[in-house]
Amino acid sequence: MNETLFDLSSFTDCDQIKDSYDQAARIVLYPGDTSRFLETVPNQSIALIITSPPYNLGKDYENRTSIEQYLGMQSQVIKQLYRILRNDGSICWQVGNFVDKGEVYPLDIFYYGIFKKQGFYLRNRIVWHFGHGLHASKRFSGRYETILWFTKSDQYVFNLDPVRVPSKYPGKRHFKGPNQGKPSGNPLGKNPSDIWEIVAQDWEEEIWDIPNVKANHPEKTDHPCQYPIELVERCILALTKEDDWVFDPYAGVGTSLVAAILNGRRAMGSEKEAAYIEIARQRIRDSLNGVVRRRPIGKPVYQPTGNEKVARIPQEWKENSEERLLEEKVNYP
Ligand SMILES: C[S@@+](CC[C@H](N)C(=O)[O-])C[C@H]1O[C@@H](n2cnc3c(N)ncnc32)[C@H](O)[C@@H]1O
Repeated sequence: MNETLFDLSSFTDCDQIKDSYDQAARIVLYPGDTSRFLETVPNQSIALIITSPPYNLGKDYENRTSIEQYLGMQSQVIKQLYRILRNDGSICWQVGNFVDKGEVYPLDIFYYGIFKKQGFYLRNRIVWHFGHGLHASKRFSGRYETILWFTKSDQYVFNLDPVRVPSKYPGKRHFKGPNQGKPSGNPLGKNPSDIWEIVAQDWEEEIWDIPNVKANHPEKTDHPCQYPIELVERCILALTKEDDWVFDPYAGVGTSLVAAILNGRRAMGSEKEAAYIEIARQRIRDSLNGVVRRRPIGKPVYQPTGNEKVARIPQEWKENSEERLLEEKVNYP
């Protein structure tokens, strides 16, 4: 059983997953194009819009177009998102790079101009860092994506306490001034900062040569570009209140909706691929029943001890290897 902070009894009738907009509902999952769904959503009704939009990479679910055409279509959607967002609401836009013939286009840079022109205010550009991924051969390997967090106005919800993380030195004290000798930190922990280490794949802890253990994140489904529940939870807890609407216009397999439900928020999404809708429905039902598969929140990223078989330098590299780099490093001043 998953532990949830909220009483989910008001959600327990699975028929409550509506497939069209309904202000009285708690869960809406629209199977179809987001622009059509947006036409049905009233002005200023949503507290948080959070999504990872299609990146125009030519994945199974998208037709690759020119970057100009892609961004032109996205600005039409963003215009509608501005309309449906509450005045104290936020939008979190999670993107990586678009790569064309080896040239990298950092999508957040392109999107920034679109959001700014629309009237949004940037509050953070969050770097989501992950330790593993493909190894590039003609450029440095990419190990982060970003989340642009914009608000619609200067009056916005920001609750730091539910998302504080343990501080490194909780024993630190003020060494002068009126609070001299008193602890200088916050007993609830520190601000998590704008660099997040929430993992994309948990193979840090699962690949270690253990037979019959799949090198998969516990949340992984058939979707090629899922993001982790924890990433969304952090935004939901900081930027919304209980019972607020959280909307994902490109819902995929429903990660944002699951995160909203687990935290007592209303969940809304649109997704055009029927296969992903089916998986999303199942994950929603599993969330309501307390059995959704998920990486536990706040679980530290695995730190290898150096003794694991895969952390050791292969015997045949010993002569001319990374070990030499490590030895040289030790001698740095
Ligand atoms: C990057 S994925 C989002 C994955 C999601 N964050 C998750 O964790 O499952 C983008 C999704 O947008 C969907 N999509 C693309 N264009 C769409 C459109 N016009 N309307 C609705 N969904 C669309 C794709 O099918 C894909 O599942």
